[in-house]
Amino acid sequence: MSARPDLYDKALERASTHARDWLASVPGRAVPPQLDADAVVAALGGPFPEGPTDPADVVDLLARHVEPALMAMPSGRFFGWVIGGTLPAALAADWLVSAWDQNTGMRFATPGTTGTEEVAGGWLLEALGLPGGSDVGFVTGGTMANWTGLAAGRQQVLTQAGWDLDGDGLTGAPKVHVLVGEDRHATVDLALRYLGLGRPTAVAADEQGRIVPAALRSALEAVDGPTIVALQAGNLHSGSFDPFAECIELAHQHGAWVHVDGAFGLWAAASPRLRPLVAGVGRADSWATDAHKWLNVPYDCGLVFCADPQAHRAAMGARAGYLVHGSGGERDALDHNPEHSRRARGFAVYAALRALGRGGVADLVERSCTLARRFATQLGATLGVTVLNDVVLNQVLVRFLAGSDRDSDDLTRTVVERVQHDGTCWMSGTVWQGRAAMRISVSNWSTDEADVDRSVAAILRCAREAA
Ligand SMILES: Cc1ncc(COP(=O)(O)O)c(C=O)c1O
Repeated sequence: MSARPDLYDKALERASTHARDWLASVPGRAVPPQLDADAVVAALGGPFPEGPTDPADVVDLLARHVEPALMAMPSGRFFGWVIGGTLPAALAADWLVSAWDQNTGMRFATPGTTGTEEVAGGWLLEALGLPGGSDVGFVTGGTMANWTGLAAGRQQVLTQAGWDLDGDGLTGAPKVHVLVGEDRHATVDLALRYLGLGRPTAVAADEQGRIVPAALRSALEAVDGPTIVALQAGNLHSGSFDPFAECIELAHQHGAWVHVDGAFGLWAAASPRLRPLVAGVGRADSWATDAHKWLNVPYDCGLVFCADPQAHRAAMGARAGYLVHGSGGERDALDHNPEHSRRARGFAVYAALRALGRGGVADLVERSCTLARRFATQLGATLGVTVLNDVVLNQVLVRFLAGSDRDSDDLTRTVVERVQHDGTCWMSGTVWQGRAAMRISVSNWSTDEADVDRSVAAILRCAREAA
């Protein structure tokens, strides 16, 4: 017997009410959480209950004790890391993902999911200016998107070197050289670690964090054998872009596989105005990005693309007698991401793309960048505040300058702490090129000019108090 549908009603109604209450509270609430994790442990913990609790009561319990401990990440004044909010269509579609509960592995078994993801995948290739016919995988996030693209690269360059990776593994294999920009994201190194490729060779980057083509040329000339070059669209600090056309050409001349980490920066391609920033990126071999950052779908959702579907499938594909695969070599999702079983992430991506349309995606990206410049203009015009990076995208690095009797690193860290405590808005601190900075990232679809102006006022108030 299947579960009686009414058994879900009360719990779902409560969840819907709590979700709406939360969303209604977001515009006005302080951005930081009001309780810490220990308080949540105390409220929800205790001995593992012997018996059942009513499903609706469980939902109430969670909402009551967790909600005060939530960071208002969907707020238009949340500028931490690169964390977008959630578009209404994407959120609602994500609810359906759970209700429909499709294990998205096989085309035959979950045609609804597969069909939707095929449509979304095609639209993504268009939006991001990637070659038609590239393979698409829906993964958990940018880290696993990097991992998957680099895994495809590892497989390909070893195969080209005559090594049977599937049969013989990495032990005794020719060394795979991996060249990366000095200022790449840490998850590239993490992915390489997971792949058994060890620490990459860092190639010099310029003052904005872009890899230097002449240095890449020398690094390529210094290596022999299977090689992967990992480039970056959107430096996590400055938002800068590696010079793709030149670097990809160089790498390909040396027979290297080129992977691009574009967790958020690849979305520049969706805007006709910003597209020049990624000129030439489409000639790479694999690309990683996130939908849960700038496309504003709920966590978790990363995307990996591979120009050569065979290479992608060679690295990820799996076959087993008990699974049902199409006889015509049709696309099975489990051949394109590391998981065998996974949720139907593509529904939220489809919903976001459909709800926004091509123009809406471009607007979302351009608006975020315009608002980032608004931050930079207003803060940069203030005495004692300096903007450290060229604001080419949605990232702004701000430093607060102390008088001769105090250290600017210390002042900057204090301002960041005060802003985080103040609650009007939230941004993280960082260290860039050896200097402490406030890192502002604009990637929420709902952020507007008023949010920026209010946040700037709060930052300047905290800076005055800290001085
Ligand atoms: C440039 C870059 N690459 C990779 C990642 C990792 O993405 P995720 O956190 O979705 O795994 C991030 C996340 O902040 C990023 O900014």
